[in-house]
Amino acid sequence: MLKTFSCLLALMTVCAIASAEPAATFDPTSKVFRLDGGDASYVFGVNSRGELQQLYWGGRLASSDHFPQAVPMPARASFDSSYTNTPQEYAGWGAGLFVEPALKVTFADGNRDLVLHYDSHTLTANGADVVLKDIKRNILVTLHYAIDPDSGILSRSATIENREAQPVTIEQAAAAAWALPPAHYTLNYLTGRWAGEWTLTQEKLDPGERVIESRRGSTGHQTNPWFAIQSGNSDENHGEVWFGALAWSGSWRITVEQDQLDEVRVTGGFNPFDFGYVLHPGQSFDTPVFYGGYAANGLGSASRLLHHFEIAHVLPHRIGTGDSAAPKPRPVIYNSWEATEFNVDEAGQMALAEKAAALGVDRFVMDDGWFGQRKDDHAGLGDWYVNQQKFPHGLKPLIDKVHALGMDFGLWVEPEMVNPDSDLYRKHPDWVLNFPGRPRSEQRNQLVLNLARPDVRAYVLSFLDKLVTENDIAFLKWDYNRNWSEPGWDQLAPAEQKKVYVEFTRSLYGILAELERKHPKLEIESCSGGGGRVDLGILKYTDEVWPSDNTDPFDRLTQQDGFTYAYTPQVMMAWVTDSPHGLNHRTTSVTYRMLSSMQGSLGIGANLAKWNDDEMATAKRLIAAYHQVQPTIVQGSLYRLISPRNGSEFSATQTVNHDKSQSVVFLFIHSTQEERLFPRLKLNGLDPAAEYALTSIEGKAQAGTPATASGAWWMNHGLDMDEEFRGDFLAAAFRLDRR
Ligand code: GLA
Repeated sequence: MLKTFSCLLALMTVCAIASAEPAATFDPTSKVFRLDGGDASYVFGVNSRGELQQLYWGGRLASSDHFPQAVPMPARASFDSSYTNTPQEYAGWGAGLFVEPALKVTFADGNRDLVLHYDSHTLTANGADVVLKDIKRNILVTLHYAIDPDSGILSRSATIENREAQPVTIEQAAAAAWALPPAHYTLNYLTGRWAGEWTLTQEKLDPGERVIESRRGSTGHQTNPWFAIQSGNSDENHGEVWFGALAWSGSWRITVEQDQLDEVRVTGGFNPFDFGYVLHPGQSFDTPVFYGGYAANGLGSASRLLHHFEIAHVLPHRIGTGDSAAPKPRPVIYNSWEATEFNVDEAGQMALAEKAAALGVDRFVMDDGWFGQRKDDHAGLGDWYVNQQKFPHGLKPLIDKVHALGMDFGLWVEPEMVNPDSDLYRKHPDWVLNFPGRPRSEQRNQLVLNLARPDVRAYVLSFLDKLVTENDIAFLKWDYNRNWSEPGWDQLAPAEQKKVYVEFTRSLYGILAELERKHPKLEIESCSGGGGRVDLGILKYTDEVWPSDNTDPFDRLTQQDGFTYAYTPQVMMAWVTDSPHGLNHRTTSVTYRMLSSMQGSLGIGANLAKWNDDEMATAKRLIAAYHQVQPTIVQGSLYRLISPRNGSEFSATQTVNHDKSQSVVFLFIHSTQEERLFPRLKLNGLDPAAEYALTSIEGKAQAGTPATASGAWWMNHGLDMDEEFRGDFLAAAFRLDRR
């Protein structure tokens, strides 16, 4: 096969940029584009009317397979035009389209009809840029496609360009639309609320439209911009799955429609609610990226593809110490929030740091309370100077102490917010989102700074830059503790104000990118009262996320289960906090809490001043054990062996590292009933022919369990637990190492 660009024009039909097998091809005879990567193929073409029509998305086809030119779907009745029946890659609202459009605009003269036809294209290394143009007017849309050669995950987005002489208002703009042929499907998506994020919601797809969205200005706890559609017979380990995730941290929307012909269309991008973006002559407008993938072996295989893709292609690749800047397993952190809340001071934090260091923690993070006049949540946000009463000598003595103890230092900030009781608000009351003369609704006694304003953006960037330049800070926990209300931007003309939904989030990304440029080693956590801002947009700039303010270790099992359908355990921070837990008043052992958190990126968030010697020794032993196997846990392939959902008595997870030389298994009992023992656990993903030694991290296998056995044994026979493994809130963990 060709190694370089080849475009064999008249005689040969295929035009491609090629490596061993070209990832992207265009057949000029049939006008068919084909993208191949991993085990997936994605095919679309220019149909006889000139529309870009989706043809195939599924398991990888042979390179010898060819598609004829796309034929528009026929009109079935005078009520269902061919235009609406035909699954288009990016349909304009016009010509009688009744399904969700990808793009809806109003022209300056009141015309609202938009019909996009193929204009031209360029093949790129792993994809194509395809230009569409309205049949009459100079509105151009470039669709960007790229396919990951390893996972087959596609990245899709659009650039809309106004070459008219008058402004055009964009009222709805998707990043991409996906289509599936008629069949029985189940839709999966993630729902929740504050302290209750990450519920996997599953429902049969029926005619009509299911809308999952945020109108809140940010991603939201209530739904997350991820979906997975399973074919009728698919489950965790079997059957076809099509999945996608939108990389946008502002208001977003994904619609899943089963149309009148039972075709399924998934359309996602900016939320059109209260949306409007005026595109002036000569301007262009980029949508976020909508990632989409295909997996053949159930939801488990879909999430494994996504996890590896996120680590390889989404997460920041910070300047590394070694050869690769690929995301490294996260440092084990200590965080002060649940221990001290706002009552931080130099002596108290130093005492906690000593305890944390004694456990083997790598990073000490001081949470809320260190700045301005911050005694509680009524004051201080916006005033990012060190509180003199709490830290009379600044942060330096604490940071020096943390370093002397062998840890690096992290700090909490909430840059986009302001308390009305702050110097910043007294000086700049116009800096917040508001409609003049209307009330400014507070949540948690705070208002949202309008980050879209250049002066606000400059202020936020400058205080963060100063903070990180003047103090030896390795990490920021970047919080965001409310949603929008009264989202006015009164410095702009009324017709322009709704672009706040776009420009706010772009400013946020711009600040994060600029911080990365100036402080390439600085790491950041995205937090929004827990998991309110977790998406593949923010994860391009942040190294980890805080999944939930709910740290109850039993609740976390279900939350972590849901979280991992969309996001890798690498970014899933999980703290061990105190017992009984504040939210549920549930009492659990340190061991149970540790093992629940060790399934993700481990942290300690307890008041260590109150821990006894036994608790400290247990945590220290388990942190050491965790450090040894952490890469396998957070970057390996995850198998959800037994789900904790739906009141299950048990749950179990397993991860296997890249070369199958190590595996880690976690087992949990919620509450034993009727003397039922933990079921025999058949493992997954091992090399059947290799020998693996079983080592306990915590808990005992059944007497007689072989110390070493083949991968085939562990996968076909399975692991039996000691029958004493019975009771309430119990946990065990094992590692398997290839001999
Ligand atoms: C949010 C975060 C918490 C903590 C507090 C501090 O609720 O999710 O972890 O940082 O803010 O005010």
